[in-house]
Amino acid sequence: MEQLVKYNQLFTEYLEQNTGIPEPKNLYEPIQYILNLGGKRIRPILTLMGADIFGLSPEEALPAALAIEVFHNFSLVHDDIMDAAPLRRGKDTVHTKWNLNTGILSGDAMLIQAYQCFEVYDHKLFHQLVTLFSQTALEVCEGQQYDIDFETRDNVTEEEYIKMITYKTSVLVGCAFQMGAIIANQDTKTQKLIYNYGTLLGLAFQIQDDYLDAFGNPETFGKQVGGDIIENKKTYLYLKATELGNHTQVEQLQELFLNKNNVNLKGKISTTKQIFNESGATEATLKTIKDYTNKAFEVAKQLSISEDNKKLLINFGTYLMNRRV
Ligand code: IPE
Ligand code: IPE
Ligand code: MG
Ligand code: MG
Ligand code: MG
Repeated sequence: MEQLVKYNQLFTEYLEQNTGIPEPKNLYEPIQYILNLGGKRIRPILTLMGADIFGLSPEEALPAALAIEVFHNFSLVHDDIMDAAPLRRGKDTVHTKWNLNTGILSGDAMLIQAYQCFEVYDHKLFHQLVTLFSQTALEVCEGQQYDIDFETRDNVTEEEYIKMITYKTSVLVGCAFQMGAIIANQDTKTQKLIYNYGTLLGLAFQIQDDYLDAFGNPETFGKQVGGDIIENKKTYLYLKATELGNHTQVEQLQELFLNKNNVNLKGKISTTKQIFNESGATEATLKTIKDYTNKAFEVAKQLSISEDNKKLLINFGTYLMNRRV
């Protein structure tokens, strides 16, 4: 864990040196605002770790780490608009603090800034990094579209759900690691292994995010608890409840998820959570988070790196699984 704190400090210092608020303020202030709210910084940490475990100084990976964190924050600004979310990291979301147009335009600028971060790398590295990054970024958009499409469907399958979260969340985690491996000049096979490790962890991570969205502690979670229920998101909890619940529970759930204008939102949230618990969906969800994390660990074991570095990867996966924010 000490190592994670070190990566985080290294990254935060670099971020502070490389961001500012030029004119027009209304474009750049929201960018600085969201980046300074921090968050866990998981993706940039993974890029630095990805370089470090393959013997390269993590400093070399800082520009790519910044690219991925700026991209991630861009995706959050737009995601919060799409999800009508009022809170992010315990503070107002950008479109709430400013307005919708600001959220859209500052987000657009962040996507461009993310690409600019790669300009310091030489031609060959630049090409490899940008190719992976563009493919990943497009997949994130595809995942986000499925996520929105699923809000108005009541027959989403587990397979469709896994595809949706693979795209919206887990490919970016895989990409974070792989960029570190690319900068450390690793062969394609190694790059793919570390990418696969990241995507499996990413699946566990998103299912945990679904779980916390319903059952997180409102004092510490930093987002609106129950936001996914309000938005009729087809989360893992929801899918499992429709699979494991009895006839009455499933009917009640589907009825509650028919529209977004429920007069009694508090009632919708508490009844839904009760069905998640009583149907066995909560338990099944926690088990699946463990299963994907363990699958990831099997992949980590196949890497040709030192035992200490394998431990670092596995400790990180364990930390993710046990997080509460
Ligand atoms: C939130 O990501 C979006 C998801 C993919 C679930 P994080 O949980 O990594 O958010 P921060 O950056 O730590 O706030
Ligand atoms: C977000 O998924 C994925 C992206 C931002 C691409 P969520 O909508 O579940 O993320 P949170 O819960 O708002 O952080
Ligand atoms: Mg969201
Ligand atoms: Mg979303
Ligand atoms: Mg979520």
